[in-house]
Amino acid sequence: MAPDYPRRRHSCIGERRGPAADVVGVTPGTHRPGRCGGADYPSLVDQMLAVPHRETRATTWMRPAAVASVVANIGIVVTGAVVRLTGSGLGCPTWPHCTGGSFVPHRAMGVHSVIEFSNRMVTFVVAAVAITTFVLAWRLGRASVLRVAFLLALGVPAQAVIGGVTVLTELNPWFVSLHLLVSLAMVGLAVRLVRLLDEGDGPPRPLVPPGMVWLARGVFGVGWLVLYAGTIVTGSGPHAGDASAPRNGLDPRDLSQLHADLVFLLLGLTVAAVVLVRTVPDTPPLVRRAADTVLAVELAQGVIGFVQYFTGLPVVLVAFHVLGAALLSAAMTWLLLAVRQRT
Ligand code: HEM
Repeated sequence: MAPDYPRRRHSCIGERRGPAADVVGVTPGTHRPGRCGGADYPSLVDQMLAVPHRETRATTWMRPAAVASVVANIGIVVTGAVVRLTGSGLGCPTWPHCTGGSFVPHRAMGVHSVIEFSNRMVTFVVAAVAITTFVLAWRLGRASVLRVAFLLALGVPAQAVIGGVTVLTELNPWFVSLHLLVSLAMVGLAVRLVRLLDEGDGPPRPLVPPGMVWLARGVFGVGWLVLYAGTIVTGSGPHAGDASAPRNGLDPRDLSQLHADLVFLLLGLTVAAVVLVRTVPDTPPLVRRAADTVLAVELAQGVIGFVQYFTGLPVVLVAFHVLGAALLSAAMTWLLLAVRQRT
């Protein structure tokens, strides 16, 4: 006796409508008589060829994955700062092992090893997000998106190596600085991925007058100088990550002054950008919001920076300062990319 299938009709290959069909180049309405036409179910081959299903999933999940990349990279910047600020940088004194021959800390090693080990575990979360993003980008089939997702995925092993060298050099401040800067760059790269999903692959077309494009570039460039200078201030300061870690030997007061001077230059450029987007008619709201966000982050960072400087660098404030640095990397990248669009 024939099996009693439920009387539900599944869609046939090529019958899918809407954007998914366009994305993967399936001609809507293409029918395959004999395969699906009169049958209640598509054959196994039809199901395997039903690429639109999978591609639709990639289209749906690509944006959440890109946003998750932004969040994950900001997250690991903050957990890395917690390691340094709690003096746990050498909680696991070796790398890739935590301690002689073991990847995990012993109970006797204390709280610092747990903190450092937990941060190493966060790397796996970032790696999982990066791999998922890469796989989705690959299934999406857009070379530009795939390139950025590949760089983001490559950043994880690169950071694992830099982090390892940082531990093996007993927290050399120049490697600590590099380690943070690469993560901040990955935050920016993840933002680039999000923006790319709103654009085509044609040449970029400015959405604002050239003066505003140059201001956005200026904010981005000076913003990076501020970030770099900040890491050198840290290298000269008290929060080394371990009591035995070397310092860079520079004067923290002079460096803080330089860091703050650059911040004032950055604020000047950003205020100019915020004013300009309000005076130029037809500026897209996206650009206005981006400029406002950069200014808001900078003001908050400036306040935290001064307060922490004059109150002896309390660790909680310094942790928020590092979070602010990651948010600034995201915001200024967004502004840089919002002033133009690829079609
Ligand atoms: C847009 C504003 C600012 C940004 C983006 C910024 C960014 C940074 C960054 C990236 C670091 C390095 C963090 C680390 O290595 O873990 C840092 C450290 C530091 N910043 Fe700023 N900063 C800003 C404003 C200021 C201001 C106005 C001051 C006031 C003097 C200041 C004082 C400091 C100090 C003292 C440190 C060293 C903290 C430590 O020793 O751990 N910052 N900043």
